[in-house]
Amino acid sequence: TLLVGTEHVADKRSFRHFMHKEIHEQPETVALWVARHLPEGALVALPLDESVYEGVERIQILACGTSRHAAQVGAHLLEQLAGLPTAVFYASEFRYAPPPLEPHTLTIGVTQSGETADTLAALAMEQDRRFLVADPAYAPRLLGITNRPESSLGRLVPHLLDIGAGIEVGVAATKTFLGQLLAFYGLALAFAERRGGTAHPLGGGRTPAQLRELVEQLRALPAVLQRLVDDHDRCCAELAHLFADTQDVIFLGRGINYPIAMEGALKLKEISYIHAEGYPAGEMKHGPIALLDARVPVVSIAVPGTVFEKVLSNAQEAKARDAQLIGVAPACPDTELFDVLLPLPEVDELLSPLLTVIPMQLLSYHIAAHRGLDVDQPRNLAKSVTVE
Ligand code: G6P
Repeated sequence: TLLVGTEHVADKRSFRHFMHKEIHEQPETVALWVARHLPEGALVALPLDESVYEGVERIQILACGTSRHAAQVGAHLLEQLAGLPTAVFYASEFRYAPPPLEPHTLTIGVTQSGETADTLAALAMEQDRRFLVADPAYAPRLLGITNRPESSLGRLVPHLLDIGAGIEVGVAATKTFLGQLLAFYGLALAFAERRGGTAHPLGGGRTPAQLRELVEQLRALPAVLQRLVDDHDRCCAELAHLFADTQDVIFLGRGINYPIAMEGALKLKEISYIHAEGYPAGEMKHGPIALLDARVPVVSIAVPGTVFEKVLSNAQEAKARDAQLIGVAPACPDTELFDVLLPLPEVDELLSPLLTVIPMQLLSYHIAAHRGLDVDQPRNLAKSVTVE
């Protein structure tokens, strides 16, 4: 078993790079989170004051980089599981052009380091402008999600969810991203439970039985994830040489896996310096399809559920332009169109980002390592960006 505790910070164990080690620690990140927050006999237990939940009618999330992708998955969960309208903003945009104030709003800042200047400034600005309004419905309600509770974020916000992923050394966030996703699963479940666990007539929401079923699947996830990390590690290591001369890669996903496609592209850019774009698969025909030919691999995330057939037909369109197709999808007759398959086990579509992100991380890791690049310290990037 790999330990994620701080005592292993300077120890790469048998791994060549911290990033690779941190990818492999993720089954344990989940196991620890499940043990802490999904106790027997309860749906979910988060260490948050009830006042975080009371009277919340909408949510806005401020974040940068990888954390923003976790926020996008989080928004999907909060809307679909708890029926809470949720908007996600780039913190750097929000701080200079915030939307008009709305009442009963919970503002969540997501930052693994707890030190990202734009995220802190956006949260502080939101707090300040709400303090100026006399009506208590507009009072600031701030929650932070971080891996560093002792950070500046911890001092700024009154409520904090510590993702407890252990120290992450690689600049490219991996296990902290998974930890942020888990925080959002917990939060969405907690809100869903308090809102009665009903399917909302205005959209979103799941029944109590459906919520319990989801929690059961979460409890079983560490073992599923362990197998997936091991299998995809081998597959992605073998695939890496195919990208030796690649200059552009397109990542496609839809619904809850659209942010994972974005994350796949960001990871590849960050550490391999290959140009990559993450796109909602349905938008491909409105531009990026013009880029496709045999030199542009397309990574397509296709998970059974609401958009499975749609994503497959988008992949078919890419194939018709001679693109090399890599599928992150279950092995079944429908997915035989992929040139290469990174197989997914059966899972509820809403939980799938916890699995589909693994091949995104491993693909970029092995491509960068195969190119001999400094995976843990990519050029021009820093672990925490404390300047604007
Ligand atoms: C930097 C890192 C990214 C990270 C982003 C936000 O740009 O290189 O990996 O996603 O900052 O960091 P945060 O600490 O706010 O999550």
